[in-house]
Amino acid sequence: MVETKTIDININGQPFQVEEGITIMEAAARNHISIPNLCYLRGVHEQGACRICVVEVEGSKSLVAACVTKVSPDMNIRTNTKRVRQDRKILYELMLSDHSQDCLSCKRNQSCEFQALGKQLGVDSSRFEGVRSDRSIDATPSITRDMTKCILCRRCVTACDKIQEVCALAPQNRGFATEISPAMELPLGSVACAFCGQCTVVCPVGALRETDGTSRVWSALENPALRTAVQVAPAVRVAIGEEFGLEPGARVTGKLAAALRRLGFDDVFDTDFAADLTIMEEGTELLHRLRAALTGEPAVLPMITSCSPGWIKFVEHQFPNELDHLSTCKSPHTMMGAVVKSYYADKIGARPEDMYVVSVMPCTAKKFEIEREEMQNGGLPNVNAVLTTRELADMIKTAGIDFAGLPDEEFDQPLGMSTGAAVIFGLTGGVMEAALRTVYELVTGRELPFENLHVTPIEGFDQVKEASVAFEGVKPEYAYLEGVTARIAVTSGLAGARQLLRQIENGESPYHFIEVMGCPGGCIMGGGQPRSQDPDVRTKRLRGIYTEDESMTLRKSHDNPYVIALYEDFLKEPGGHASHELLHTHYVRRGAFNELSGATYIVDLGPSQKRKAQLPPSDEPVPAKDAKEAQPAERAEQAPPKAPEADAEIARLKAQLEDERQTVEILKSVIRQKK
Ligand code: SF4
Ligand code: SF4
Ligand code: SF4
Ligand code: FES
Repeated sequence: MVETKTIDININGQPFQVEEGITIMEAAARNHISIPNLCYLRGVHEQGACRICVVEVEGSKSLVAACVTKVSPDMNIRTNTKRVRQDRKILYELMLSDHSQDCLSCKRNQSCEFQALGKQLGVDSSRFEGVRSDRSIDATPSITRDMTKCILCRRCVTACDKIQEVCALAPQNRGFATEISPAMELPLGSVACAFCGQCTVVCPVGALRETDGTSRVWSALENPALRTAVQVAPAVRVAIGEEFGLEPGARVTGKLAAALRRLGFDDVFDTDFAADLTIMEEGTELLHRLRAALTGEPAVLPMITSCSPGWIKFVEHQFPNELDHLSTCKSPHTMMGAVVKSYYADKIGARPEDMYVVSVMPCTAKKFEIEREEMQNGGLPNVNAVLTTRELADMIKTAGIDFAGLPDEEFDQPLGMSTGAAVIFGLTGGVMEAALRTVYELVTGRELPFENLHVTPIEGFDQVKEASVAFEGVKPEYAYLEGVTARIAVTSGLAGARQLLRQIENGESPYHFIEVMGCPGGCIMGGGQPRSQDPDVRTKRLRGIYTEDESMTLRKSHDNPYVIALYEDFLKEPGGHASHELLHTHYVRRGAFNELSGATYIVDLGPSQKRKAQLPPSDEPVPAKDAKEAQPAERAEQAPPKAPEADAEIARLKAQLEDERQTVEILKSVIRQKK
């Protein structure tokens, strides 16, 4: 074990012993001293971009950024001096001067880190006004970018570049003209963005967000000609409570069903039903591919899961020659849409075109997925609208529903019935574990030989996890699998996916079956989930999912009685003709520069939203407008001060002059840092 060395430091006159090598920000936080910050994201983005976290360090000529400066022995730090407060305030005001300050109509109103910081710093006016940078607003079906609200913190660049390794966003231009956007300021919908939404989770302001799905859902709910069916993904139920003050991981499945009913949906279904269905289809597909490979027929292995539309778009762009490795199964919510508009519509005597299917998802990429031509049957989209978890929470709040006080209700049947295997779709490794629970039992007649049915090597958050399952004592119809050890891998996040795809591309993949989820940590950490400041949010949501799985009577997809009935009454058999028609799909070769398909996904925002940052009337910077600093015209009208008042006035002017001198110094240092 590596021994950690501690050193003595002093913060605000108090002695502390802290770990050597940590930053001032960390050292302060561990000793319950909070340093205001904006661009900092612990362990993720520590680049010193905004300088809001400046502190005084004895012996240092200028202020230092606490989030990137490491502690050193006997360091004497001051986090709350007049100079520090003043510097932070000026930096904030400078950012504010180039910001579209329309908080009241902004999606992030009251959940905006920039807004909260202004309050924390005590900013009650902005002294700097002038020309604003001319920045773009553009939208895809998944993500809307409003760069007039961007504070250039670059968190999104880190999420896209370092975490997802997609590199769709980067700072363009320099100085005042800097804008975070795709190369050459192309619209996001025309480049290789996966629409995963991880950038929207880290953006502290309203600059990056999901493209609105609520308006069309409200309209559908108010349209008496439509029968509205809603479905909820597994990861939503362990996260939406956070929007209503509950702990991450709190299981609110029953309240969710109740809230959706009170919003006015006619049918309240569970995507978990379709997750069980996915396992039946995907498990069958895997067995077909394994049989072909083991009996000398052409087969493409490893097979890779296809539930995550961000991952699918990623592979279509980055590895267009490897699409045959993807399972042909649609994602569970589009399978559900296809079943609702065929089997269920038929059951209730409704026309498919009158069924309006809404999916509540932890995912922004699902908004794009439903627009794909491949996700249609009979000319109708399988799903009509997608709401993220955050958007559903907004709708519940708008409707005045007391979410926390709701009683627990059940989903509607038959499409609300599910097993524990479906619940774990919300986790990284969950689809793989669910598939193994079914495939192993089908092949051997015995339960998957892991404690509590959990394939422990593929649990957790490592980038790539592996396991193997040996088939022994198989049923006669699966004789080709006797003695075969299936090698599996699981990854979440597109960086791990790239690693596994490179192996495949080089012909070096040792696996038979791979699960990929587009978001790091799986759907529980999807791009549409509530933004959380809790450092343990992942673990808490994960625990919530496992508890839900273990609390269920049925824990294997093939035991779902309504899935069995669906096959008996309608689909006939997994992988059969009807299934292929409704539940399977194909993919598009796009290329890294979209050169293979040329397809773009650009949403026309209409004239009202296309406004640029508003320019002030003059091109000249406008001087200070602080209330204390009276305008010259007002000054002229004031009577000349009398003797004692004159002394006070001189003192005030001196202080003001000193303030302004310091402001100039700070501005100079900011300009030096930016250079
Ligand atoms: S992003 Fe800007 S406009 Fe929106 S809430 Fe924050 S400060 Fe207000
Ligand atoms: S949606 Fe994902 S891929 Fe696209 S810019 Fe954001 S982080 Fe990058
Ligand atoms: S878009 Fe958001 S996350 Fe990206 S730099 Fe701007 S403010 Fe930061
Ligand atoms: S929070 Fe430290 S520089 Fe932005």
